[in-house]
Amino acid sequence: MGATPKDIPYGLPHPAKLALLAGSMLALTLAVTLASAAQGVSELATAVTRARQAELAQFVRHDCGSCHGLTLRGGLGPPLTPEALAGKPAAYLKTTILDGRPGTAMPGWRPLLPDAEAAWIAHRLLNGVPDAR
Ligand code: HEC
Repeated sequence: MGATPKDIPYGLPHPAKLALLAGSMLALTLAVTLASAAQGVSELATAVTRARQAELAQFVRHDCGSCHGLTLRGGLGPPLTPEALAGKPAAYLKTTILDGRPGTAMPGWRPLLPDAEAAWIAHRLLNGVPDAR
């Protein structure tokens, strides 16, 4: 809901007009920031670029999917769908991704994935991994 031109009273003296303009631009910036925060990925999106997010989504479907199923509904490894993971903390999933589960087939991915990318994957698993393109 940004300010529309008709919201700006043109009869005001010059300095007040400027202040109003600055104010509405600030409001617009805030609105855009809030809109991206509402998508729930803003802080992660800054750590992992959009292009890399697409690569990671494909990586999860293919590499993780080789055990967890291409649709992540389970195979050798358990399902990684939002329903199956509901209630599990993101930090716990991230640790599993980075360090694996010793004594099971789940390998650690630390050599391949920086912390921020493992956090992004954990967040995506909990909320749904976008389809690989
Ligand atoms: C070689 C097979 C294999 C591959 C590849 C694999 N996993 Fe796993 N994963 C497993 C197995 C087996 C388990 C169950 C371990 C256990 O019994 O605790 C597991 C468990 C998990 C869990 C814990 C699930 C839960 O409910 O606690 C997560 C999260 C996970 N894997 C994510 C991933 C991600 C992300 C990838 C890709 C980066 C991946 N896995 C690749 C075999 C695999």
